Amino acid sequence: MNLKMKKIDDFFEKIITVKLSDDGKAVNIIDQTLLPNEIKRIDLRTKEEIFEAIKKLRVRGAPAIGVTAAYGMAVLSRGIKEKDFDDFYKKYKEISEYISSSRPTAVNLFWALSRMEDKLLSLKDKPVDEIVKGLFSEAEDIRNEDVEKSRWIGEAGFELLKEIREKTGRAPGILTHCNAGTLATAKYGTATAPMYIALEKGWSGQDMHVYCDETRPLLQGARLTAFELSEAGIDTTLQCDNMASALMAAGKIDIVFVGCDRVAANGDSANKIGTSGVAILAKHYGIPFYICAPDSTIDRETKDGSGIEIAMRSPDEVREMWYEKPMAPENISVYNPAFDVTPAELITGFITEKGVVTPPFGF
Ligand code: MRU
Repeated sequence: MNLKMKKIDDFFEKIITVKLSDDGKAVNIIDQTLLPNEIKRIDLRTKEEIFEAIKKLRVRGAPAIGVTAAYGMAVLSRGIKEKDFDDFYKKYKEISEYISSSRPTAVNLFWALSRMEDKLLSLKDKPVDEIVKGLFSEAEDIRNEDVEKSRWIGEAGFELLKEIREKTGRAPGILTHCNAGTLATAKYGTATAPMYIALEKGWSGQDMHVYCDETRPLLQGARLTAFELSEAGIDTTLQCDNMASALMAAGKIDIVFVGCDRVAANGDSANKIGTSGVAILAKHYGIPFYICAPDSTIDRETKDGSGIEIAMRSPDEVREMWYEKPMAPENISVYNPAFDVTPAELITGFITEKGVVTPPFGF
C-alpha cells in the first residue's frame, strides 16, 4: 500500500460516523455537535437517546441518519420482551414510528425504517431471536450498501473532475454547501465522494481545491466539511455563505457538488438551507450544479418540491448560538427553515450510484 492510500485509509479509520457498539447494545456515533474541537464517540442505547441525537444533529446527514435508525431498530428490538409475533410487531412499530418522527425532510430515514420493517415481516414465522438476528444483519447490509453506493457516486463524480482538469490544465475548484461528507454517510460522503475517490486513485490533496460554504446557522460547512476535508489533506478554503457569488465571479469555481435530503419525482430537491441560492448563482455564472445522492434519497411518491415538508428550527440558532453574547435584539422574529428546495430546472444533473442523470428528469 502506498503512502497516499495509507493516509486516506487512516482518515476513514479515524472518522467512523456511525457503527454498532462493541457489545452490540448501542448505536455508537461521533457527537458532531462537538466538532471540530473534539472527536468524542457516544453510545445511544434508548429510543429517546436516538431521537434526541437526530433532532439535535449529533448525528446528521440523510444517509447517516438512515444507518443510525437501522442499527437503532436492531438494538431496540432486542429489548422487546414480547415473544408472540403480533405483540412483538406492535411494540416494534411503536418504536419505529417514534424514531421516524425525529426529522421530517430526509427520506432516507423513512426508507431505512421501512426496509427494516420489511425484513421483520419477511421473518414473521420465525422465533423472535431469529427475527432480531435478521434485523442486525439487515442494518449491517444498509450500512455496507451505503459505502458501496457512495463509492459509485464518487467514481462518477471523479470523471467530471478529471474532465475539468484535462480541459483547464489546473486543479478543479469545487464549491460545496453544508456537509454531505463522510460525517453524513457511512464512508465516502456523497458530495465529497468524488474528492475522496480522487485521493484513492492517486491524486494529491493539491490536485483539487474545495471551497466550503460555512452554512449558517449551524455551520456544518465550517465545523464539519472544512474539518474532514482538511483532515484528509485536501486543499480547502472556507467562506461565508454570502461570498459564494464573489468566488464564482472570480473564476474560482468550476463545479458545484451538494448533497440532498429528498428528491421529488420531477427532480426538485430539498437540501440544507441556502442550497437553492447556490444553484441560482451557479446558473447565473454558467457553472455546472450537481446533486450527489443515492437512489434511496429519491422520493417517487412526492410529485414535486411543494410536497416536501421543511422543518423550522429554533430562533436562537440565528440570534445567539455560537456567539458569546446575543447578536440580535432579544425576541426579534427569526425565519429559520432547516432546508430549501432547489427547482429541477437549476440542476445540471444528479450523480447517483447508477451514474449521472441529466434533464429531463422523471424519477
Ligand atoms: O441538517 P443536516 O446537517 O443533516 O443537513 C445535511 C444536508 O443538508 C446534506 O446535504 C444532506 O443530508 C445529504 S448528506 C449526504
